[in-house]
Amino acid sequence: MSMILKVDPINPAAEVMKRAAEVIKKGGTVAFPTETVYGLGANCFDKSAVLRIFEIKRRPPDNPLIVHVSSLAQLDLLIDDNVERAEAIIEKFWPGPVTLIFKKKAEVPKEVTGGLETVAVRMPSHPVAKMLIDLSNVPIAAPSANLSGRPSPTNAQHVIEDLYGMVDVIIDAGETPLGLESTVIDLSRDRPTLLRPGPATVEEILRVVPDLYVPDFLFGKGQVERPLSPGMMYRHYAPNKPIILVLDENKLDIVLMKYPDAPIVCPEEMVQNFYGRRIINMGKLSKPYTIAQNLFRVLRSLDTLVADVAIVVGLPERGILFSVMNRLRKAASQVIE
Ligand code: TXA
Ligand code: MG
Repeated sequence: MSMILKVDPINPAAEVMKRAAEVIKKGGTVAFPTETVYGLGANCFDKSAVLRIFEIKRRPPDNPLIVHVSSLAQLDLLIDDNVERAEAIIEKFWPGPVTLIFKKKAEVPKEVTGGLETVAVRMPSHPVAKMLIDLSNVPIAAPSANLSGRPSPTNAQHVIEDLYGMVDVIIDAGETPLGLESTVIDLSRDRPTLLRPGPATVEEILRVVPDLYVPDFLFGKGQVERPLSPGMMYRHYAPNKPIILVLDENKLDIVLMKYPDAPIVCPEEMVQNFYGRRIINMGKLSKPYTIAQNLFRVLRSLDTLVADVAIVVGLPERGILFSVMNRLRKAASQVIE
């Protein structure tokens, strides 16, 4: 059984949130909304609670978790690193959708960090996430609240589909506002390195971190140089049918002819180009944040469609759409460039 607690996303009721916080304090697991996606949380200092997260998600034990804090005092409990390099970025992006990687304190269990000497930390801005951490009074380790390999959950229904019966509490506060997992930046290296593009765009980060290194593999080019981030070795969001991602518009017609019954996932502005075909509208190119919000719902909906393959139209790799394309590349079984 999982207890489902419904709360208002802006003004969550403290009495209800206290019940969830009690579960965290006692070593249980709580799925909760953040501004990015829902997380599956536990007290980061409680090893057996952390191991339960890996068991519930069926996540490989070497793929580390993000620890969520609600204050800079809690950051101090976790990291043994020079925070000066992080000051500008923290000032600009926290609380918010940016995860930073630092050298960890010995007290942070290796179960949380997948055996690494570094720890990923994020201060979420969602009022429900903030209140849960405050009331639990501990940093909360939380990966996205999906089964490993499934798209991240952007509402409580997605969490229920994947984890009902296994997680102790599911807090339902509706849709997550951004819909895409946080931007991950490694600050433990000589040069700050982008490990996962997210809602805070490369262009925005470069304004505060001019020497940010953006590895080629984030564009799907070249090899992952070395496992910078263990999560990058795993294929993500793999739907139950092959996805063909078409980047070169000139090759679209050939792909469409080859798969006459395949549904097409495309931006609203292109819907009229595919008259007579099954279309899934991703949102407007003119409002690219809506495409980010819809992405994981669209990927989940592909699973329930009767079709052998799905065709996804590539998007310009700039701003938030660079982060969207990073997820689509991971979901695709074939990329046509
Ligand atoms: O928006 C988000 O980040 C959501 C919400 C719940 O906060 N969380 C999330 O967690 O997406 P998860 O576990 O699904 O993704 C965390 C990513 C993984 O790719 C993991 O490998 C990487 O961060 N990561 C965590 N700790 C790391 C570390 N010490 N070094 C390198 N990569 C790390
Ligand atoms: Mg995840």
